[in-house]
Amino acid sequence: MKPFDTVIRGGTIATAADTFRCDIGIRDGVIATLGHDLGPAEQVIDASGKLVLPGGIDSHVHLAQPTGDETVMADDFETGTRSAAFGGNTTVLPFVMQQKGQSLRQAVADYHALAEGNCYVDVSFHLILTDPTPNVLGQELPALVEDGYTSFKVFMTYEGLALSDREMLEVMDVARATGALVMVHAENYDAIRFLTDRLERAGKTAPYYHGPSRPIVVEREATHRAISLAEIVDVPVMIVHVSNRESMEEIRRAQSKGLKVYGETCPQYLVLTENDLDGLNMEGAKYVCSPPPRDEASQIACWEGLQSGTFSVFSSDHSPFRYNDPQGKLRAKGRTSFRWVPNGIPGIATRLPILFSEGVVKGRIDLNRFVALTSTNHAKIYGLYPRKGTIAVGADADIAIWDPEREVTISHALLKDGSDYTPYEGMRVTGWPVLTTVRGRTIVVEGSLVGGKGHGAYVQRQRTSTGRLARKGYEQ
Ligand code: URP
Ligand code: ZN
Ligand code: ZN
Repeated sequence: MKPFDTVIRGGTIATAADTFRCDIGIRDGVIATLGHDLGPAEQVIDASGKLVLPGGIDSHVHLAQPTGDETVMADDFETGTRSAAFGGNTTVLPFVMQQKGQSLRQAVADYHALAEGNCYVDVSFHLILTDPTPNVLGQELPALVEDGYTSFKVFMTYEGLALSDREMLEVMDVARATGALVMVHAENYDAIRFLTDRLERAGKTAPYYHGPSRPIVVEREATHRAISLAEIVDVPVMIVHVSNRESMEEIRRAQSKGLKVYGETCPQYLVLTENDLDGLNMEGAKYVCSPPPRDEASQIACWEGLQSGTFSVFSSDHSPFRYNDPQGKLRAKGRTSFRWVPNGIPGIATRLPILFSEGVVKGRIDLNRFVALTSTNHAKIYGLYPRKGTIAVGADADIAIWDPEREVTISHALLKDGSDYTPYEGMRVTGWPVLTTVRGRTIVVEGSLVGGKGHGAYVQRQRTSTGRLARKGYEQ
């Protein structure tokens, strides 16, 4: 047997279940051995004093997504996956967005063409359904699920994207029949339009009013409705980017009835608030995302959801637009209302350090839950486990080595994305990923890019859902 390609020596490994001292032998991109005194290797990485964790899996990111207007997303597959690697991630799941009238199969082909040869970390794709025609529902979608596109997002809001309840039911019905998972953006579209019109009539057009145009009740009502629709069809659902207690309680209530309803929250709901949207001039536009950041009580609720397991996954919802750019947030210069500020904020590289620092270092969650929330549960829920999301013999050698004591002031310059700002500029964190390895190849070490563009590959996924709203499963 040839020697290991790489041995990671002297570190403390943490998985979603255990923490232990052990070396890792890597051969042909896969974890070949866990043990001590592993013998010769072409490359030895000294991880003494460091944590050795499964690479982050970010199951909610938007890259190179068409917007349907003059705005342009700040990250393509190259810059987005590069930034992901700087933040300790080894796999990301962006969305293939179907445009109205477009064949879903064609949209998938277009995304593969954009990703091919450009990625630093591995990728797999969810679908976004905007046009659930009989052909899409009857032919294309079942065939795509069969091919490994086993999760799809539906929107209950956004111009041109929102589905009616009937359309949601039809999509959920396909998910049930095929064993796919439906991800729901839960906000009430008509209520948001009504409130937006009213705010504008009152001259309340600054970015701050993005929050009041989408209050908690708008999200809570839609969360309740999404879960009810899933119950009618009898299919599991994932409620994404949950921002507050009332929505979380809808999810918890469903879970306590034994329903397979998953919840996701994101960094912006832990460390930002509505006050961040209240900056001078248009500065608040930097924080416009949906649902909007809320208040401190909502932050506490989101922490409780992470602690209790109501939320199984912690994702970035990375949806980057440049700030000082007519194709980005300041598009609104000529159109003076918050209505025109593109929704979404960057966060692919800051997700893990923020949760590590605010969660693990401050004692809100332990290290094993951190791994579950940022990697293992994503792999399990979206059909990548056990190849991804853990450190085990036979798994891909997707590893992030962390310095748990390093103090870093977040600045956009560290993140290597395509945007021109980070909403977390100046935030002090403790703990930082110092090395990211994807299938045994080091991509980032000590803030330097060493891995090649194109190493990141598309990963085929399995179905993990039964297609039924049965008892909550395996996630931690
Ligand atoms: O504001 C957000 N979250 N933009 C990204 C698209 C979405 O709704 O996830
Ligand atoms: Zn969304
Ligand atoms: Zn999103």
